[in-house]
Amino acid sequence: MKDYKKLNEYLSNLAVLNVKLHNLHWNVVGMQFVQIHEFTESMYNDVFEKYDDVAELIKIRGEKPLAKMADYLQNASIQELDKDKFSTTEVIQIVKDDLTKMKDLATEIRNAADEADDFGIVAEFEDHVAGYNKNLWFIDAMLTQ
Ligand SMILES: [Fe+2]
Repeated sequence: MKDYKKLNEYLSNLAVLNVKLHNLHWNVVGMQFVQIHEFTESMYNDVFEKYDDVAELIKIRGEKPLAKMADYLQNASIQELDKDKFSTTEVIQIVKDDLTKMKDLATEIRNAADEADDFGIVAEFEDHVAGYNKNLWFIDAMLTQ
């Protein structure tokens, strides 16, 4: 695996998403509050686990995972939110957009790792893509009237 820039971008996104999903979890309002509050909790727990796993995959390969908030903000392709109140539909749409980005980036990393015969990263990122697909299915079902 050679493309550590992409892996660090992905790691940075996980770090930003951890905070961003907490913002959504705390500040969602509306009739489906409990459902979305719990959904975003399951998402930030998942993101937090992936954050450590991805950093360790980088370390195992003798490279340097980014480890500072300033570096994450500079290298992330997912943006923070400058708001403190969200409708349930808004939350679902924001999460949908971010998960789609993460799925695309995870697919790119998986394919680059495959070219480099890095089976560990291929296996890990195939799981990530499968997880994003499942959550995107939940989201699409929630958005369907
Ligand atoms: Fe909580």
